[in-house]
Amino acid sequence: MRNMNESNITEEVLNTIEHTQSPRLKTIFTAMIRHLHDFAREVELTPQEWFTAMDFLYRAGQISSPQRNEFILISDVLGVSSLADMLSDRGADGATETSALGPFFVEGAKMLKPGGDLIESNEGEPGVVMGHVCDQKGQPIEGAMLEIWQTAHNGLYENMDPNQREGNLRCRMLSDKDGVYRFTTVKPVSYKVPEDGPGGDMLLSMGRHAWRPAHIHFKLSAEGYRPMATQLYVEDDQYIDEDAVFGVRNSLAVGFKRNDSADEAAKYNLQAPFWVVEYDFRLRPA
Ligand code: BEZ
Ligand code: FE
Repeated sequence: MRNMNESNITEEVLNTIEHTQSPRLKTIFTAMIRHLHDFAREVELTPQEWFTAMDFLYRAGQISSPQRNEFILISDVLGVSSLADMLSDRGADGATETSALGPFFVEGAKMLKPGGDLIESNEGEPGVVMGHVCDQKGQPIEGAMLEIWQTAHNGLYENMDPNQREGNLRCRMLSDKDGVYRFTTVKPVSYKVPEDGPGGDMLLSMGRHAWRPAHIHFKLSAEGYRPMATQLYVEDDQYIDEDAVFGVRNSLAVGFKRNDSADEAAKYNLQAPFWVVEYDFRLRPA
């Protein structure tokens, strides 16, 4: 191992991982070492530049906490999280596409019955979101668990904002016997991902912004089906085609349709004008 040079060091390193026990881990280590070495050769990486990269990761670790994982944000803004979602969606054949879970999910939100209300005392434009949870062929699934969360009018999630009460704009709900889910809420707004850490520095140095188009998060699970996380996006949001974390898919950009009928609004205990979103989720078998 002494006669190493820039051409043979990669093979030397690869030789040392030959006894990796897990075949999958061996595949991953091999590709990672190859790509990292090729990357260094391609950009003619200097030791100072590599130190800057290591310092960047160190700072990401320092700003991370149980409430905030900067590494996930970095992966998101580089499109790697979305790419992994896309790879796992292969062969989905009509099932709902995945879109980042994101860092703001909280377990164990309050249970609402279908038709329940998330608006409570929130400011914003009222509306109703409804549809079915189905299998890939469109057959309704009874008792599917939906976990739902979104930001308030100020673009903040409840757990990032001391001025919101705990659990605000979050709920869980079981689809009814016809697979139906429904809840009233306020229209989500576009917001920025956290910019005060190395993830934000990276966005800035790339000349990019931190905005995400307005969306509502859903986590879905049902006995016999593959659990998934996705988001419904406001189709005409100004950031719909420039999401900082590459989460938008055509099939997830939905119309928030304005309805001016007082009679229709009353059906949902709302006042006109209100907006309506209809969306059927389709789950893959486990
Ligand atoms: C979110 O939508 O909550 C989110 C997703 C990825 C990164 C940051 C935030
Ligand atoms: Fe979000």
